[in-house]
Amino acid sequence: VTYQVGYFVGSLSSTSINRTLSKALIHHAPDDLRFTEIPIKDLPLYSPDFDEEFPPEGRALKDAIAASDAVLFLTPEYNRSIPGALKNALDWASRPYGQNSFDHMPVAVIGASPSGIGTALAQQSLRGVLSYCNARQMTAPEAYITFTPDVYAEDGSVSDPELENVLTDYMQEFRDHIERVLTVLPRS
Ligand code: FNR
Repeated sequence: VTYQVGYFVGSLSSTSINRTLSKALIHHAPDDLRFTEIPIKDLPLYSPDFDEEFPPEGRALKDAIAASDAVLFLTPEYNRSIPGALKNALDWASRPYGQNSFDHMPVAVIGASPSGIGTALAQQSLRGVLSYCNARQMTAPEAYITFTPDVYAEDGSVSDPELENVLTDYMQEFRDHIERVLTVLPRS
């Protein structure tokens, strides 16, 4: 069995440290996880006016989530919360009413920032949204990554053994979380 993981990088920055972190997480993930990024950058700002007929970007987002067994969120922290671009993507995915893409979906939340807080408040804020969307969150371990650029190599490896352990453990636990959720709630 392999699990298909869709992942969101909640940043529109061309030099996103959270995209760098996504490469490192994929590099350290168990072999039975397959990863596809779910892009958010071309989504218009959501409005209920679109509910009648979603534009291609909105449909592509919902199709990509539906094709995933689980979803991983990498969030930057903007002003102690999640970036608007990520919130916009969550709002698209939750609609139209009655067709919430995150219902019962196994998910995990992580993020990196240059500060010592390591996106703790953004992650908490994201968890609140995902709770309301009825996603099945991995609650532990948490990982608040204080980003130090020097330790991340292009291929996803990291030169800090402690960080390597954190990333490996986090992804192993996510894999086990996905398996547990899908045992009870198989995706059709
Ligand atoms: C930030 N940054 C930031 N960092 C943090 O730890 N807590 C915060 O509340 C904020 N607030 C904030 C607001 C805005 C508008 C910007 C542009 C930045 C810094 C942020 O962590 C840093 O820019 C990261 O590089 C953002 O992640 P990506 O986009 O590089 O993945």
